[in-house]
Amino acid sequence: MKVKNVNSRDLEQIMILEKEVFRENAFSKHLMGELIHRNTLFLKLANGKNKNELIGFIILIKDRKDRINIINFLINPRFQNKGYGALLLKNTIQRITQLKEIKKVVLNVQVSNSQAIKLYEKFNFRKNPKKIENYYQSGESAYLMELFIDSL
Ligand SMILES: CC(C)(COP(=O)(O)OP(=O)(O)OC[C@H]1O[C@@H](n2cnc3c(N)ncnc32)[C@H](O)[C@@H]1OP(=O)(O)O)[C@@H](O)C(=O)NCCC(=O)NCCS
Repeated sequence: MKVKNVNSRDLEQIMILEKEVFRENAFSKHLMGELIHRNTLFLKLANGKNKNELIGFIILIKDRKDRINIINFLINPRFQNKGYGALLLKNTIQRITQLKEIKKVVLNVQVSNSQAIKLYEKFNFRKNPKKIENYYQSGESAYLMELFIDSL
């Protein structure tokens, strides 16, 4: 398994996979393309044996001078629960710690997504107990989760 930067050729598979997992695309194909080209960390986990097989991806944006926001993260359902989410997140955090100016990593997660919350907690993200009501289109609330790089 290899963690690599996403490129434009991955876009089609990423859009399909995102729709399969979340039932809707959070961003248009155009915006996803922009994210690839802009100052974003957009990483994929690819199967070394079958280069075309996308195992998962993660998108990060630097939304403040000292902060990274994980705006999307998923593992292909056919490959979930095999440690790949942990692998991709670990590699991502390692890359972030090399960015000296970054002090904090944040993300929002559905309050019902205990699988993801457990994974983030395993990597020292802490849940802000105050829910963000009606965060998603479905009306579901979100938790803000934060990781302080200094605490690692
Ligand atoms: C959340 C997600 C990325 C996790 O990836 P994954 O490859 O399935 O997870 P891993 O196999 O690496 O498991 C890592 C940890 O996650 C947690 N976890 C994984 N599957 C779990 C399950 N079915 N129930 C509870 N916890 C689970 C555990 O803490 C696990 O560590 P452990 O095996 O030591 O207990 C993946 O399930 C996914 O893509 N879900 C749909 C999209 C999504 O919710 N993205 C996050 C949006 S914020």
